[in-house]
Amino acid sequence: MKKLYIRTFGCQMNVYDSSKMKDLMAGQGYEIVDNTDDVDMVIMNTCHIREKVKEKIFTELGKLTKLKAKKIKEGGYMVIAVAGCVAQTEGNEIFKRMPIVDIVVGPGSYHELPDLVDEALRKQQFRTRDIKTEFLNDEKFDRLPVADEVKGVTEFVTIQEGCNKFCSYCIVPYTRGREYSRKPENIMKEVEALVKNGVKEVTLLGQNVDNYKGIDEAGNKITLAGLIEKIAKIDEIKRIRYMTSYPSQVTQDLIDAHKNVEKLMPYIHLPVQSGSDKVLKSMNRKYNVKGYLEVVKKLREARPDIAISSDFIVGFAGETEEEFEETMSLVKEVKYAQAFSFMYSPRKGTKGAEMNNQIDENVKADRLSRLQEVLNTQQLEFNKQYQDKVLPVLVERISKRNDKALFGKSPCMQSITFGCKKNKLKDFIGKIVNVKITEVSIRGLKGEMI
Ligand code: 5AD
Ligand code: SF4
Repeated sequence: MKKLYIRTFGCQMNVYDSSKMKDLMAGQGYEIVDNTDDVDMVIMNTCHIREKVKEKIFTELGKLTKLKAKKIKEGGYMVIAVAGCVAQTEGNEIFKRMPIVDIVVGPGSYHELPDLVDEALRKQQFRTRDIKTEFLNDEKFDRLPVADEVKGVTEFVTIQEGCNKFCSYCIVPYTRGREYSRKPENIMKEVEALVKNGVKEVTLLGQNVDNYKGIDEAGNKITLAGLIEKIAKIDEIKRIRYMTSYPSQVTQDLIDAHKNVEKLMPYIHLPVQSGSDKVLKSMNRKYNVKGYLEVVKKLREARPDIAISSDFIVGFAGETEEEFEETMSLVKEVKYAQAFSFMYSPRKGTKGAEMNNQIDENVKADRLSRLQEVLNTQQLEFNKQYQDKVLPVLVERISKRNDKALFGKSPCMQSITFGCKKNKLKDFIGKIVNVKITEVSIRGLKGEMI
């Protein structure tokens, strides 16, 4: 059997795409391995969201040069494919800087990977290299195999892809193309296939997942909430999650679903980016602080224990100290359960990169550390509420650090490692068990199964 190693960078969408590429190549007789020793193929599934991530990918590719040369010397070959968002926008640069790369394939055409690999193997040394960067969404999702390898307890399902928003800092509309919603039937088929493989929890993915616009075979419109309700009817599915939401697109039916659909978990990733209306406007975000706070309020009314998570960008072009302080105030008002925060990184080709009032890197770094300090305190406070309480945990696996302990997630997405006095720990994987929380920290909880 040929060996394939896939390295994944970036967001959950990439994790999903990597899992699909594994299924595709497993169908071609490739065994998926977890290191580059003696592999026949490597896929770098790349992320372009910030400049730093991109440079890291070139470093990683550089490391493969020797391995590939060795493989060829021994009479073999190593196909190197670059997929994902850097592939989409930097195909020419990749080929120029990295002659070892055979295939460049964007997120909209990776279903063609088996053909591209055949071609690369045929051409080898004197190849002409192709860049595949069309957005063939209908074709792509129709041609992706349904899961046939063993899956984990929890898996992602892409339901919507691409973005029409063009936030002025963001490269996603250029790397993932226009917004596209998958057909509800295809999504249901995929969920059912996952269920057959033992999956108990699905996370529905999309850059604007709350703007999901499905049309079923009968021509009915299906919203995200509608889809959640359909999936909730599948007995074996115990938990449903979704991400990422766009604040002004959170609809009443989604809020109601948080109240009425028991399997929908009390967690929402609702990136606000900034707490200043002026900065939001300049970022081309289509909501203001007041609107955002209203959505948070409604969600909390529907589901008082809902965990709210967010993304923040500090030091966007023109952000003043006062405007940054407005972000700090918003954070203090909302009280986040979890958050990701970044220094603004100007991306070539976006409006933000052309603005002439860029902020000094030291100022950005200072703001980031001040913001993260508050966010960390909030995350700890959020976790502390659960000290000595009992939480239902979906068991994902045996703990990596301690083979007498189990690992899983709480409804609010907290990571929990817990002891279990019973034998045969494996039997609990995929089950929901009650865990008494004995220790809390910023990153997670510890406890004992009861
Ligand atoms: N610079 C810094 N952070 C960014 N993000 C997106 N684009 C940029 C950028 N150019 C962040 C946003 C987004 C998350 C996925 O990454 O906060 O929500
Ligand atoms: Fe990027 Fe904005 Fe689209 Fe999100 S909504 S993917 S931040 S352009």
